[in-house]
Amino acid sequence: MSNKMWGGRFSSGPDAIMEEINASIGFDYRFAAQDIRGSKAHVAMLAESGIVSHDDAQAIARGLDQVLGEIEAGTFTFSRALEDIHMNVEARLAEIVGPGAGRLHTARSRNDQVALDFRLWVRDAIDQLDEQAEALQRALAEKALEHADAVMPGFTHMQSAQPVTFGHHLLAYVEMLARDRGRFADARKRLNECPLGSAALAGTSFPINRDRTAAALGFDRPTANSLDSVADRDFVMETLAACSICAIHLSRFAEEIVLWVTPQFAFVKLSDKFTTGSSIMPQKRNPDAAELVRGKTGRVIGALNGILMVMKGLPLAYSKDMQEDKEGSFDAVQSLSLCLAAITGMVRDMTPDRARMKASAGAGYATATDLADWLVRTLGMPFRQAHHVTGSIVKIASDAGCDLEGLTLAQIQAVEPSITQDVFSVLGVDQSVRSRTSFGGTSPANVEARAKAWLSALGTG
Ligand code: ARG
Repeated sequence: MSNKMWGGRFSSGPDAIMEEINASIGFDYRFAAQDIRGSKAHVAMLAESGIVSHDDAQAIARGLDQVLGEIEAGTFTFSRALEDIHMNVEARLAEIVGPGAGRLHTARSRNDQVALDFRLWVRDAIDQLDEQAEALQRALAEKALEHADAVMPGFTHMQSAQPVTFGHHLLAYVEMLARDRGRFADARKRLNECPLGSAALAGTSFPINRDRTAAALGFDRPTANSLDSVADRDFVMETLAACSICAIHLSRFAEEIVLWVTPQFAFVKLSDKFTTGSSIMPQKRNPDAAELVRGKTGRVIGALNGILMVMKGLPLAYSKDMQEDKEGSFDAVQSLSLCLAAITGMVRDMTPDRARMKASAGAGYATATDLADWLVRTLGMPFRQAHHVTGSIVKIASDAGCDLEGLTLAQIQAVEPSITQDVFSVLGVDQSVRSRTSFGGTSPANVEARAKAWLSALGTG
């Protein structure tokens, strides 16, 4: 059977392999709603501009509604011979409306049509991801407020560095997510121009009104260059780049959850809702959801690399290579969406072991910097010298097998005679975090204020 759409030029049907490699309906069926929305806006504009009759336009619009209804009801039969969603919809429209359906494709091409559909799809995806990222920020800020004063070790090089609060640690991710959302918003703003009416690549000789379709579809304006409109997928690359960065943030957090729930750390507990057992080792509680967030990040970054590679050598304008822009993007958005939901669930679910984290916060002489700062502040010592003196005191404690608070004043004065009893006021982990009141620092008062500010900025969702 020759192809229904371009059958005029071809006498026999495509070879089976040709059909298989050529068809995109297996995945671009997801554009059905966007495709029909775009077609309705297009035909309404064609009628307004006197290019098709109002009767034809009305019949087409009604037919398109019926097609969408059939797709949503699951009664629509997708055909691979019709290649893609655009031709599947149009062929069914012709069955419903008759030959008048053929007027829909006036002043349009599948090239601007697919560019439009994808932009609409990506715009929706961004809105959904942004909403989920906001929900995660809210969950983090709520937990942070609850544990604004829970002391835990802060690490650099994965070594105990200085005590911080659990709330402060969680709020770090709230800030990262704010930037992720900023990147989504930027991508959305730049993609929000309407390519429809660029036709195949050169524009059209019909007196169309591109401002009209752009406005009807919620775009800020029409795209200004027809070649660019059908040839670029930078809106996909930019969105996937934003998705990748967001996924990396989630992956780092997932890695921390994996560490925190080990019996060795035991900083937080996840309930049975977010752990799985082992089929052989009865004691195990595996943080599979966190591990999968870490793992799925690879897929998201893979999709970004995929689209970059597909596009890198393509001359203007459209090439069929660009059909490869979709599957990775669908997968990346779905993966990130799942990761956001899973991390949000884990944040709500997790219970920190405050006593355990606090005990661990003092390990590894984590208040040594506080001691050095005391020497600077109280004795007027230059910081470099204070660093050296503190090092000697840490060595004495380490040799004695105790922490800094466990030393006697005499032991400390053996290193620096002018140190007084007052030094003990800065050696505890609670005092340490309370003293970090600089803007952006970890003091519980700061954390509480920042968590509250976030919660009121985020609203109740
Ligand atoms: N299915 C195609 C795609 O996803 C639609 C555009 C086809 N355009 C063309 N000139 N064959 O890219």
